[in-house]
Amino acid sequence: MKLWGGRFQGGPAEALARLSVSVHFDWRLARYDIAGSRAHARVLASAGLLDPDELGQILAALDDLDIAVETGTFRPVIEDEDVHTALERGLLERLGALGGKLRAGRSRNDQVATDLRLYMRDNALQLRQAIVELADALTEQAALHVDTPAPGMTHVQHAQPVTFGHWLLAHVHPLLRDLDRLQDWDKRAAVSPLGAGALAGSGLPLDPPAVAKELGFRESFANSMDAVSDRDFVAEFLFITALLGVHLSRLGEEIVLWTSYEFGWVELDDAFATGSSIMPQKKNADIAELARGKAGRLIGGLVNVLTMLKGLPLTYDRDMQEDKEPVFDAIDTLALVLPAMAGMIATMTVRVDRLAASAPVGFSLATEVADWLVRQGVPFRDAHEITGQLVALCSVRECELHEVSDEDLLSVSPHLTSEVRNVLTVRSALSARTTPGSTGPGPVSDQLVSVQEQLKAWKKS
Ligand code: ARG
Repeated sequence: MKLWGGRFQGGPAEALARLSVSVHFDWRLARYDIAGSRAHARVLASAGLLDPDELGQILAALDDLDIAVETGTFRPVIEDEDVHTALERGLLERLGALGGKLRAGRSRNDQVATDLRLYMRDNALQLRQAIVELADALTEQAALHVDTPAPGMTHVQHAQPVTFGHWLLAHVHPLLRDLDRLQDWDKRAAVSPLGAGALAGSGLPLDPPAVAKELGFRESFANSMDAVSDRDFVAEFLFITALLGVHLSRLGEEIVLWTSYEFGWVELDDAFATGSSIMPQKKNADIAELARGKAGRLIGGLVNVLTMLKGLPLTYDRDMQEDKEPVFDAIDTLALVLPAMAGMIATMTVRVDRLAASAPVGFSLATEVADWLVRQGVPFRDAHEITGQLVALCSVRECELHEVSDEDLLSVSPHLTSEVRNVLTVRSALSARTTPGSTGPGPVSDQLVSVQEQLKAWKKS
């Protein structure tokens, strides 16, 4: 059964049919297509193109088909070409010729764009929930480490002490922005293309705004040609999922480092780690690595779709059938990665002793010395130079900054009195950082409260 063929003699070549078929992946749009059919049937009835009895029969058949799709008693066959073809077959099986009335004023072009928008809006809500769960797990760990010192890094070199809670929260903020992006995306996704027909709208008295309302869209299309050719909602969504993939990858990379012998900051729960088939001692952070690895396919999906779209003349071109698999793959990938990451983070044990021991080493308090000199009136340029000389001395002596004798301090600069030792503790470095957004325990507590409130609001939205 095909939706076209009147003008053709003989059937399609096997090679064409095999290339053309999409039902093996677009079948997941079936229930959204049926929802669109219900709305379309009502509009045809309002337009006087179906009588009330016909409308009743069609709606009942659609309900029956919907249940059959849900329970798997109605399945597509490969001859169906796509989801729309399969569902028309299902309708004809139930209604005979009456089933053929539903296609009036409608094209697969406006249908497929509608189905995909509906599918994505639904799935974006589940995606948002999974993001919130990961953000929650990070935030709960952060709450335990508001004043746990850690060696903050740039270039993977010890830079300045930070609190580990601050560090964990630094992974929550990107996720909060992802949530915000998904909500903002929905504004543009919530536009119904149904009624655009193939490209020109319909000469039949349809009611696109009524259809849009029934399907939960914010409004209906403003331009029928744009309605069937626009895939911005796909590209934007794939950008958001690619960026989310990058965020998960950066977090994953840190977990890989933190669980290494060299760092030893974090111990994963057995349930969220894997072993080796040959090395009995191994405990690997495979979840974190898979999160890092899967960023590649999420980024790839965005590149696929942008490249597919870039040369397309308006309106619909068959190239656009390639829009769906990257979306489905992104949704499926994130539905696997996010809960695994959330479980791994929620159950990991943070080695406070190792973090605290690592925080002051590698001259991470050198900036404190320079800032102290500035407070004594030394220009920062000179303070930086003096501190650099002190670090050079320590490097030669193989000692830490606070281990230098009073005489040696004075030999570097007369400004370096023994008073400087007061700032040479991690505790003083952290508690000096009191301004909003900085790493001191005070501002981190404030940040934590704000993040918890934001997450609570996301759970309600
Ligand atoms: N399977 C097609 C797709 O996903 C449906 C639209 C087909 N439209 C057409 N004019 N051939 O894009």
